[in-house]
Amino acid sequence: MKAIIFGVTGQDGSHLAELLLAKNYDVVGVVRRSSVDTTDRIKHLLRFPEFNLTSGDITDASSVYGVLRDNGDVDEIYNLAAQSHVGISFKQPGLTWDITGKGCLNILQGMVDLDVKGRFYQASSSEMFGGAYDISEVDGSKYQNEDTKFLPQSPYAIAKCAAHYMVRLFREAYGMHASAGILFNHEGPRRGENFVTRKITKWIADFVLWKEDFARGNKGLSDISKITFYKDDICVHPKARMADAVAVPRFPKLRLGNLEAFRDWGYAGDYVEAMWLMLQQDQPEDYVICTGKTHTIREFLDAAFGYVGIKNWEYFVVIDPEFYRPAEVDYLRGDFTKAKQKLNWKPKTELQGLVDIMMKNDLDENL
Ligand code: NAP
Ligand code: GDD
Repeated sequence: MKAIIFGVTGQDGSHLAELLLAKNYDVVGVVRRSSVDTTDRIKHLLRFPEFNLTSGDITDASSVYGVLRDNGDVDEIYNLAAQSHVGISFKQPGLTWDITGKGCLNILQGMVDLDVKGRFYQASSSEMFGGAYDISEVDGSKYQNEDTKFLPQSPYAIAKCAAHYMVRLFREAYGMHASAGILFNHEGPRRGENFVTRKITKWIADFVLWKEDFARGNKGLSDISKITFYKDDICVHPKARMADAVAVPRFPKLRLGNLEAFRDWGYAGDYVEAMWLMLQQDQPEDYVICTGKTHTIREFLDAAFGYVGIKNWEYFVVIDPEFYRPAEVDYLRGDFTKAKQKLNWKPKTELQGLVDIMMKNDLDENL
């Protein structure tokens, strides 16, 4: 079997490449041109002869067609490429549209024009639900599933909706085996550092390291555990309150935006399995992939700071309007009943397990 992954250098692309190589696929990863090396997440896979990288950018139809022409015998095509940051999509809406929306069309149209017969997966998103949810008749709880309407709240979500509808159109118009996974937030050690979960776990690990380094370099100081909090930063020197305080090194506080939003957070490693399962079905369909549990950013902070024994994390955090979005998605909690019934898929990792994986990784990386 042969697969092409657009977006192979991203969090999910790296997990998916691993999964497919373990299943003995030949994997072609599409990498866009950059002035720096972007293969950090896949460098452990580069030694596999079955893993090959090719250059391409999904905003450029001719480059997409080139990739398809070179790999006309492909069995499965996964489109994971996106400008995937919701906040940034408000600042770069046109670019987000070109990559996250039109990029998908470039691949689908290329498959039709070049008569490429492979199956297609599109990385759709729970962001498409935006402000919409349904209410359970059983317990009155809010949820989103495959039948929930879309009410997108960002340029990113609108681009994802366009791509999602394009997948449905190509499935119906051309009989393509094209499926979309409506994935809720999924995280892990490879998560980009400007998404809220990784931003939090990385900051905590960096702070712990800084504090320990400071203690090591100041053996004469007796009370290194003493912490003084300033408006924007933190000091661990016991003399911080004295006149020489300005000379004492400080660590900048963790700056975050809205802590009240609810997210259904799962582990990326579990979710790429669902992508693969969708393409193994006889019929192409769309599926919601999630944990069915939801938590606020505050609860994530409780768990992550709790991992290193800190309870009063509010002292370490600054609320910064810079990280608020012009429009917010307040509540996401998925219902994966269809995926369970048809794909026999269910999540293996919930919030505490996810936090443990991420905190352990970030602390270990700092050793
Ligand atoms: P990610 O880490 O941001 O990775 C995005 C990938 O897209 C990177 O490999 C990036 O390449 C590539 N890319 C960006 N612009 C491109 C272009 N013009 N041409 C070719 N490649 C381009 O995202 P992720 O978390 O792995 O998510 C994978 C997909 O699932 C995305 O489509 C995302 O929108 C969607 N999704 C993610 C989640 C989630 O919670 N993670 C949930 C629902 C849906 P560079 O390395 O060069 O930047
Ligand atoms: N990134 C970020 N940075 N988010 C913050 C911050 C901050 O400093 N402070 C608070 N938040 C809030 C955001 O406002 C949002 O409510 C929540 O934390 C999660 O933000 P992100 O981690 O950036 O993820 P997202 O939910 O916006 O989008 C992710 O999940 C989508 C699926 O629902 C991305 O992976 C999307 O690509 C994906 O489609």
